[in-house]
Amino acid sequence: MLIAGNWKMFKGPAEAGAYCRALREAELGSCDVVVCPPFVSLAAAVAALAGTEIAVAAQNVHWALEGAFTGEVSAPMLRELGVYGTIVGHSERRQFFGETDETVASRVRAALEHDLGVIACVGETGAQRAAGETEAVLARQVEAIAAASPGRGQLVLAYEPVWAIGSGKTATPELAQAAHAFIKTILDVPVLYGGSLKPDNATALLAQPDVDGALVGGASLEVESFAAICREAA
Ligand code: PGA
Repeated sequence: MLIAGNWKMFKGPAEAGAYCRALREAELGSCDVVVCPPFVSLAAAVAALAGTEIAVAAQNVHWALEGAFTGEVSAPMLRELGVYGTIVGHSERRQFFGETDETVASRVRAALEHDLGVIACVGETGAQRAAGETEAVLARQVEAIAAASPGRGQLVLAYEPVWAIGSGKTATPELAQAAHAFIKTILDVPVLYGGSLKPDNATALLAQPDVDGALVGGASLEVESFAAICREAA
């Protein structure tokens, strides 16, 4: 089981350091734990978690090693900081920042080539689900990632139905299981569930046979609720 906390645009370096020092002391059980702070807080998180099993990942990475790409960060830059991996293709990047299957694929390929672990996100919108397009959307997104990860490396996927993110509307365990099983018919790697996962709904979702962990947004921002989810997973 892998539990990853996606902090999104929350917590500067001071707050990130304090959170990570508290997380070191928390009871987390025996699952793999990752925190994903904003770029500016990665170094503080790496320093505060040094010597622990808790890993630090970024929320995005560019495909080039360096170059004229204002606002972007490369895989070697992240590695130099002691960052182990990165999220790629989160739906907020796809919705608000023009991320496409092609750019997601380029980011995944570069990250894996430079030994970063990747959590690649896929998921349908509410309108796509209502129109019966869920499997077609997931297939398109997962195939793009699969084509970019021939050796797989340290790749996991996150199924995050867009309508469940930050909405309090979580997928039912059955719906999540069906989507995860479908995704694995295309790319057989661990699949995390994400979308309004909280301590009180984590047990049922994580009990599904094809749910291999969680990507947690809102409920990862407090050590107490994040640690509670980790214990449920363990
Ligand atoms: P949420 O976010 O847990 O706040 O719904 C999950 C995510 O976007 O990764």
